[in-house]
Amino acid sequence: VPGIALLLIAAYLLGGVPFGLLVARRRGVDLRAAGSGNTGATNVFRSVGRKWGVLTFLLDALKGFLPAFLFPLWTAQSGAWGIIFGAAAVLGHNFSPFLGLRGGKGVATSAGVLLGAAPAAMLLGLLAWTALFFGSGFVSLASIGAALTVALAGWFLYAGSGPALPVLLTLLAALAVWRHRSNIARLRSGTEHRFHPWRSLRN
Ligand code: G3P
Repeated sequence: VPGIALLLIAAYLLGGVPFGLLVARRRGVDLRAAGSGNTGATNVFRSVGRKWGVLTFLLDALKGFLPAFLFPLWTAQSGAWGIIFGAAAVLGHNFSPFLGLRGGKGVATSAGVLLGAAPAAMLLGLLAWTALFFGSGFVSLASIGAALTVALAGWFLYAGSGPALPVLLTLLAALAVWRHRSNIARLRSGTEHRFHPWRSLRN
């Protein structure tokens, strides 16, 4: 049990490393004052550049993947524990101990968690994200739709082995949706930033 507590703290601290801010700062951009002001890969993509956004996504996803995939192996815990360790990293990202408990929305980190601990749900979420992003141009709408899809998928895919995994996925999804409340307000007022997917991915 002390091992588990230490790993939860380690995952939280790892999740707290604000790769988006660090990558942007290296390129001379203060992410807090640019674009949406968010610290995530989307805002790095928007405000610093395409490849830096992709790099931030990969690093932030790794923060979730490593604890979700490795920590259950080390502790011989199975099933839902990957999501629990991963969720600690998502909480670290969203409420970073290195940023006065502020942070991002946890989408990339949650994607890494799902890849490590619930890959079938991750795949369905990715499909929803892709359809919504290329259909609308709103990353936030795609992320919210993906989160809802993952919650729903959890109940269809994993409820057979007990409620733990579906409940945890629903909580993870609810956290992601709640972190998008400023985006939701902008979507409702018609002021949300919109990508032109084909154009922004081409050049
Ligand atoms: O993962 C965050 C994304 O869904 C929205 O990012 O910068 O548009 O608020 P942003």
